[in-house]
Amino acid sequence: MFGAYRETRWALSVAERNLAAVTAELPDSPQGRSAARTLSRLWPYVRPVRARLATAAVVAVLASCVGLVVPLVLKAIVDGPVAGHDPGGVWLGALGLLLLGIAEAALFGFRRWLVARPLAGVEAELRRDLFGRLQRLPTSFHDRWASGQLLSRATTDLMMLRMFLAFPLTFLLVNGVTIVVGVAMLVIQNWGLGLLLLVPVAPLVPICTYFERRYSTAARQAQDQIGDVTTLVEESVLGIRVVKGFGRHRSQARVFRARAKELRATELRKAHLLAWIWGVITTLPELAIVTALVLGTIRVADGDLSAGTLVAFLSTALALRWPVESIGFLLAMCQEAAAAAERYFEVMDERPEEDVPAPAPAAEAVARGTRDGLRFSGVGFRFPDAPPGAPALLDGVDLHVRPGETVALVGATGCGKTTLTHLVPRLYELSAGRITLDGEDITAMPRERLRSLVAVAFEEPTLFSASIAENVLMGAGAEAGTEDLARALDVAQAGFVKDLPHAEHTEVGEQGLSLSGGQRQRLALARAVVGSPPFLVLDDPLSALDVATEAAVEAALRRVLEGTTALVVAHRPSTVQLADRVALLSGGRITAVGTHHQLLRENAEYAWLMSGAERALEGQA
Ligand SMILES: Nc1ncnc2c1ncn2[C@@H]1O[C@H](COP(=O)(O)OP(=O)(O)O)[C@@H](O)[C@H]1O
Ligand SMILES: [Mg+2]
Repeated sequence: MFGAYRETRWALSVAERNLAAVTAELPDSPQGRSAARTLSRLWPYVRPVRARLATAAVVAVLASCVGLVVPLVLKAIVDGPVAGHDPGGVWLGALGLLLLGIAEAALFGFRRWLVARPLAGVEAELRRDLFGRLQRLPTSFHDRWASGQLLSRATTDLMMLRMFLAFPLTFLLVNGVTIVVGVAMLVIQNWGLGLLLLVPVAPLVPICTYFERRYSTAARQAQDQIGDVTTLVEESVLGIRVVKGFGRHRSQARVFRARAKELRATELRKAHLLAWIWGVITTLPELAIVTALVLGTIRVADGDLSAGTLVAFLSTALALRWPVESIGFLLAMCQEAAAAAERYFEVMDERPEEDVPAPAPAAEAVARGTRDGLRFSGVGFRFPDAPPGAPALLDGVDLHVRPGETVALVGATGCGKTTLTHLVPRLYELSAGRITLDGEDITAMPRERLRSLVAVAFEEPTLFSASIAENVLMGAGAEAGTEDLARALDVAQAGFVKDLPHAEHTEVGEQGLSLSGGQRQRLALARAVVGSPPFLVLDDPLSALDVATEAAVEAALRRVLEGTTALVVAHRPSTVQLADRVALLSGGRITAVGTHHQLLRENAEYAWLMSGAERALEGQA
């Protein structure tokens, strides 16, 4: 019973978190927007292919008008050869109709050919920009957004936008023109019957408006729900080990079914709305046609109207059926595309990391001249999503890491060590104070330069689906070669690489999950040192290593760290001893700095933290 309770609670907490992620990023009001205004933002992407799209639209209008000539030929056949009993004339007329049909089909085919390639290009361009933006958005953005929401925007939504450009955009115009021309032809042929057909158009306008409003809300909801489902699938696949290890597949499946059911309900609501508008749009003209047929037949019988005119009239009306009927789903596609565009631009409108212009060379030279090391002055930080009343996580951190010095950062779990290391390469922006590298404020230098000066190895060693060499060399400029790679692997004691099937060219698989935690950590360390950066920030880089390997890495690291200014987060006394000095982070500030032995003697908190680590190690041994 307890198991079932725990399982339910776990499933609920997952659902809750996902829900929070969605509500956090929903726009203020999906209602108050106009589909046309949102869609018009696509113009910069469509501009380069506008000539082709316009040509395609003209071709489609032509094709449609060719279709409207058919009734006129019919009229000529009925009033001419048919009335005059001339079989030859009928065959000739039939041949004309066939040619018209072929022309119409060829024109439509030509249109498809015109738009297919450029629109695929537009979609690719949109996708490229989205990906570029995602790479440049700050870490705090990615903390807020579920990855599945971003993934679905880059796939499903962009596909909807391409479909919109291919169909509704052209066909709303083409069908509009066809309807106007067709109605004009009807009125010219017989204005009485023509006006009769126009009667049902009036109620269609408010009906369509109502439909659009309802449908746009449903479309937006469906697309957001697709994002949620994507997130869930992604998390379950990436976390498959945890899911399996804890026997969570059933509760995961339950959460998924609930999500899928919500999506299905929304899709059904869309289908329902579409069926309803389709029904109305089809019925009204049909009624008008029947009325016209009855009245027309009476007038032909009375001799007021030629049979040919009635045939032409009715076949024109029938030719207009499709353009009228299609309005329902074209409008639906427009609403879906508007929702997709809105979701696309929600990401594109987020502010990317801003960069300062490169500093004047003179100022840079002065700044570089003073070797000052890494300096934190009054650094304060709170997470953007922290509750309003909560105290700042970091509050007045002062620390000076002298040039060439290695300082170990020690503190209780959750005191903000990792966060402090993230501030140096500006993964998060400081709330107060400043950080300087050799006297130069990190906010005053272009990010690219900052990140080439500072190398980092994170607590969670992240690897990409690429070879080991590519993963490690990511930490260096383009000029780095095999020697740098070998040296970095040596420092990180990553000798295991040689034993892999293709040595350093072995692919590590998604997230490097085919390697052990300690192996991944050593590759991440190699990535940090491969570029011989002047500043190094390591977040507990040796935590997953056994004592012997750790000692070997340390010996090698000591050589590297000689010329480097380094800040190393550490938990174990062995890692701490790597450092020249130790800084204790407590209560959001640095409360003590000194050598390991000094602090052991003088600082009770430090002694307590270290003795805990020692005890744990002894327990392991
Ligand atoms: N992205 C985030 N958004 C909000 N709070 C966070 C985020 N990341 C970490 N925190 C919180 O900040 C605190 C410090 O985290 P961290 O710097 O990782 O601690 P440490 O590395 O010292 O163990 C923790 O209480 C954690 O819950
Ligand atoms: Mg940490």
